[in-house]
Amino acid sequence: MSAKRDFLEVDDLTPAQFEELLSRAEAWKGAPEEVPRPLEGLGAALLFEKPSARTRTSTEMAVVTLGGHPVYIRPEEVGLGVRESVEDVARTLACFCSVLAARVFQHATLETMAGAVDVPVVNLLSHRAHPCQALADYLTLREVFGSLEGRRLVFVGDGNNVAASLAFGAALSGIELTVASPPGYELEDDVVDRARNLGGAIEISNDPYEAVKGADAVYTDVWTSMGQEDESEARRAAFTGFQVDGEMMAVAGEQARFLHCLPAHRGEEVAADVIDGPTSLVWQQAANRMHSARALLAQLVEGHDQ
Ligand code: CP
Ligand code: NVA
Repeated sequence: MSAKRDFLEVDDLTPAQFEELLSRAEAWKGAPEEVPRPLEGLGAALLFEKPSARTRTSTEMAVVTLGGHPVYIRPEEVGLGVRESVEDVARTLACFCSVLAARVFQHATLETMAGAVDVPVVNLLSHRAHPCQALADYLTLREVFGSLEGRRLVFVGDGNNVAASLAFGAALSGIELTVASPPGYELEDDVVDRARNLGGAIEISNDPYEAVKGADAVYTDVWTSMGQEDESEARRAAFTGFQVDGEMMAVAGEQARFLHCLPAHRGEEVAADVIDGPTSLVWQQAANRMHSARALLAQLVEGHDQ
């Protein structure tokens, strides 16, 4: 019996697995008749502590097209950590489902789940990481640029869960990543160190206009993530000057494409004419959530003896 594999952060994949995953996602996108059905007759539990439009829907459809049955669960229905411990909820779901995926407030909740069950556990977003998003983002950049090696991606904004997962994806793919944030909102040191130790070319900046010059792609995300709503006023003030608008994209250069994981706040972290303009890849990214999730789930399930 091979060891089960979890996907809590992008660096749970090797560079070869990352490359294979993106290749299969792209191939199956163009040839849906070739998608295998490794989840035939099996369930996938999808537990959400926070709202979701893209992640829930894309993961459900990925499960369905792999032959499986998605079971959507809200924490209040199972009383996560209240009616029953996180471990016991996870063990219960694993009695019926061959994959356990969860969107949680605390990353530690995922680690607890992963330690309690012998089915793969997938991170659908935690305060620390959003690895499924990064898979879709790198799939999108690969489609647009042909390959990732040596391309320059600049993330402008909060050094948050999305930025962290992009850093690990950069390390695995050879893309150069600069994260430009206001002082106090930079990417965590341990994330930068870990990504650099994996060989990642990661730069940290407090000057978004300098950072974006010559970028192949400029990425931003909300200034206030889910769970940080109490800080939104302070964050709006701190992120003044970090909006990705037409002026910033002009400084980046006409080659620069725009990315955003969505949901977006037009007029806050991004100007409407950028996100809705010709350089924007956001709907390709959103669509790629399903294609990348499908390749991920296939890889995790195939690598796991039932
Ligand atoms: N990008 C993303 O994860 O979107 P949702 O929060 O709608 O799932
Ligand atoms: N950083 C955002 C991403 C949403 C998809 C959040 O955590 O709310």
